[in-house]
Amino acid sequence: MARSLALKVSSLGARVALCDLVAERAQATAKAISAQGGNALAFVADVGNETETARAISETLSQWQKIDVLMNVAGSYGKALRKTHETPVEEWDHVFSSNVKGTFLTAKHIIPHMAAAGGGCIVNFASNAGRTVSPLLGCSYTAAKTAVIGITRHLSREYAASGIRVNTIAPGPVDGERVNELLSPNATIGDLEAAIPLGRLANNDEIIDVAIFLASDAARYMTGAILDVSGGLVLA
Ligand SMILES: NC(=O)c1ccc[n+]([C@@H]2O[C@H](COP(=O)([O-])OP(=O)(O)OC[C@H]3O[C@@H](n4cnc5c(N)ncnc54)[C@H](O)[C@@H]3O)[C@@H](O)[C@H]2O)c1
Repeated sequence: MARSLALKVSSLGARVALCDLVAERAQATAKAISAQGGNALAFVADVGNETETARAISETLSQWQKIDVLMNVAGSYGKALRKTHETPVEEWDHVFSSNVKGTFLTAKHIIPHMAAAGGGCIVNFASNAGRTVSPLLGCSYTAAKTAVIGITRHLSREYAASGIRVNTIAPGPVDGERVNELLSPNATIGDLEAAIPLGRLANNDEIIDVAIFLASDAARYMTGAILDVSGGLVLA
């Protein structure tokens, strides 16, 4: 989803600074953006590491002078449906580092520049897991995505007067690699689909379109919102 989102925002005219733990992913996406005529920077950084994250942000600012939109897409997860009492603390820390610390650190280092520029927009990625309970993953993921929602709400109040809007998209299960690798042997796609009122998983574009809406001027009066894009799975 991260790559498709980057390509789509680039096709809409944005310059895209990509930050990924895996060098090849960031570089391949930057290359694909260049190939379609766009402008991209690729950084290798763990968003849970303050030094690496701050460096990627300051290099972006030194090249492009401003960051209008921050999208916090990076988010890792643990083993499928591991019981809480069987979860190693390392797994808990890993899930919290990318999802929670990463969302905090990118905001921490970008917000001062957005505020100085008169405003900006942050779109965080939570999940149906943070709205209820993850059907596929353990407590660490449910708790981490709930924290992303808490960060969103807090920042939205804190920085509204600085012209910074902060919203969260909470996708339901998306048809793709991540869900497929988590399914077996715990559940089938059919089990998941049966729980979703619209009767199917989302495709990437159905999530990406809503994230772009939140970043756009069409959402100019929205801040602190949590948008469920889950085919009706979550009623909130
Ligand atoms: N795929 C789903 O079904 C689904 C459902 C609900 C929510 N989400 C959320 O949507 C977002 C995108 O999910 P996806 O599965 O499409 O992801 P994806 O695999 O397309 O992209 C995530 C990227 O984040 C990178 N990453 C992971 N940890 C990182 C770290 N610490 N620092 C820097 N980069 C890191 C990965 O290398 C990967 O390239 C995530 O936040 C995820 O939790 C996904």
